[in-house]
Amino acid sequence: MLDYTNPQLIIDSSRLEPGSVTWRSPSNLALIKYWGKHGVQLPRNPSISFTLNNAFTETTLRYSAKQNMGKEIDLTFLFEGEPNEAFGSKVEKFLISLVEIFPFLKQLSITIDSRNSFPHSAGIASSASSMSALALCLCTLEETFCATLNEDAAFDQKASYIARLGSGSACRSIFPTMGVWGETLEVSGSSDLFAVPYIEKVDPVFKTFNDAILIASRDEKSVSSRAGHELMNQNIYADARYSQAKQQLHYLLEALKVGDLETFGRITENEALTLHALMMASNPSYILLKPNTLTMIEKVRAYRQDTKQPVYFSLDAGPNLHLLYPDSIKEDINNFITNELMQYCQNGEWIADMVGEGPIQL
Ligand code: DP6
Repeated sequence: MLDYTNPQLIIDSSRLEPGSVTWRSPSNLALIKYWGKHGVQLPRNPSISFTLNNAFTETTLRYSAKQNMGKEIDLTFLFEGEPNEAFGSKVEKFLISLVEIFPFLKQLSITIDSRNSFPHSAGIASSASSMSALALCLCTLEETFCATLNEDAAFDQKASYIARLGSGSACRSIFPTMGVWGETLEVSGSSDLFAVPYIEKVDPVFKTFNDAILIASRDEKSVSSRAGHELMNQNIYADARYSQAKQQLHYLLEALKVGDLETFGRITENEALTLHALMMASNPSYILLKPNTLTMIEKVRAYRQDTKQPVYFSLDAGPNLHLLYPDSIKEDINNFITNELMQYCQNGEWIADMVGEGPIQL
């Protein structure tokens, strides 16, 4: 069993020069959804996602030898340059949970400054980009202080493992193009503990796929993903769902391999609607979709029927619609969005995103 606890990862504080590290890490969009977990952030089924490009978090971690010995973790947290207590206490708890993996955290004064490329509270899942950016910063600290992560694959695996502990979906953001998280015989090397890159068996058409994020509502979600996962433990459809996810993964991987857009679209849309069906069938039941989400879904299906163009939708755990389409029809879809969909977006807001190259250190 993989064990990253390591009491040797400590520093000689008397010689520590202050420094900083910055990572930009993207969000991701799951095609096969992770919904339901057990143990310490372990998924009930394997999932796969597109790594995005334009929706990202940039996190700078500054460090110096610890001043405030009274606190286990000496952290100042800034969001977009301003102190943010809600995010700060979440990150502090997370760092405390990591001290056996990164014991040097107890020896530092740390300032974390995080900002998102997408508008604040646009209803876009930010935990994937923010937790992956933070995990990457922590692994760079380890490499800087201890030179124990100089191999790329080992670095990425550990970053993905740490990101998973922060937020499950975040572990997939570490990799370019696509990431698979959760043990499955379909993908060699796959694990419940970290995601693995998935790129070789993907037809080129998907490597430049577009994802237009249509903001149906900027409101904060009424039920968090964390609470949603929890409700799966009593959901009477849970077992059927987990086997469905495994089956759909099989057919999706085949479609990705051969560039079968129609199968890709059918499975992707089914996964999105299943996710929301599970929420509606939870006890207590809840609905995150908005009337405008449904209107846009109907418009997309009608447009596809009329034009025969391969444009499909997905959803995160929220009301915003992700439009997925190949780059070859980008212009037509831009027109479709402007003419028919934008009016159903809050303040006409939508974000043009696409499959990306994964995180970069700045
Ligand atoms: C619907 O990763 O946000 O986006 O592990 O509790 O932080 P936690 O949950 P989170 O759940 C994401 C759920 C999803 C599907 C997915 O990304 O696979």
